[in-house]
Amino acid sequence: MNILVATEKPFAAVAVDGIRKVADAAGYQLTLLEKYTSKQELLEAVAQADALIVRSDIVDAEVIEAGKGRLKVIVRAGAGYDNIDLAAATAAGMVVENTPGQNSNAVAELVFGMAVMAARNMYAGTSGFELKGKKLGIQAFGQVGRNVARIAGGFGMEVSAVDPYCPDTVMTEAGVTPVHDVAQLYRDNRFVSIHIPATPETIKSIGYDLIASMPKNGVLINTARKEVIDEDGLLKALTERTDLKYVADIRPANADVLLEQCAGRVFFTPKKMGAQTAEANINAGIAAANQSVAYLRDGIDRFKVNK
Ligand code: 3PG
Repeated sequence: MNILVATEKPFAAVAVDGIRKVADAAGYQLTLLEKYTSKQELLEAVAQADALIVRSDIVDAEVIEAGKGRLKVIVRAGAGYDNIDLAAATAAGMVVENTPGQNSNAVAELVFGMAVMAARNMYAGTSGFELKGKKLGIQAFGQVGRNVARIAGGFGMEVSAVDPYCPDTVMTEAGVTPVHDVAQLYRDNRFVSIHIPATPETIKSIGYDLIASMPKNGVLINTARKEVIDEDGLLKALTERTDLKYVADIRPANADVLLEQCAGRVFFTPKKMGAQTAEANINAGIAAANQSVAYLRDGIDRFKVNK
């Protein structure tokens, strides 16, 4: 059996060592395709693989077609699997899995790196404000949202969250106030941190109305997906409300315009780096390797996301 790790954005070397140990212990081959620059390289490697481990790498119908006949399982080493064509994988009889929770602390810590940066005026040296005592609204109380709430407690923030898929008791047990209306979350919180996945329902769901309704000096933090933002609405809201800030781990399509027109109030990482820590790479990479072996050897598909 051959496990292919195809990561345009590679794991830390220590994580790759861990993945290799899992493959070795199972008596499987490990093929590494890191920092690939052409889709052709991916297609050729996938044709020789029984399991495919990826990060945000695009696994579209063409990649799945290349794997037909041999590829049995695709594991997204991470949470969001919007980069994988689930329908094509299902039609090809392939199992798709993710590794929920394995990189969530890393993303949650970056939220606070960004929150402090925004509160201190992007480290321009001018007088900013503190997180202590401020209200934080968490949009989606999944694994990342829960870690954000935990860390927010240390900063002394007042935390609420909205998540139609999460029981109120999970929030209240974490000291978080449940909110049942997204509009209220944006209206009431100085900081809002976005943790929704990109799905047909959420794409472009955060636009002018929500953003412009934020309180004075509001900070919107996006470490989720750029697709959930209506970028025209974001620009309009930030242009009208010169007190608002937007900090994101994903560069929007209109980043250059935003950086020019809202200079000092927007920040984007050069490349998505929320999950780029040794710990998150080790956790997600090794979990993905274990899940690949579990499926290939024993047919276990506990984290299957396609039906
Ligand atoms: C995820 O969905 O797990 C995060 O967005 C991390 O993505 P990455 O593996 O591409 O860094």
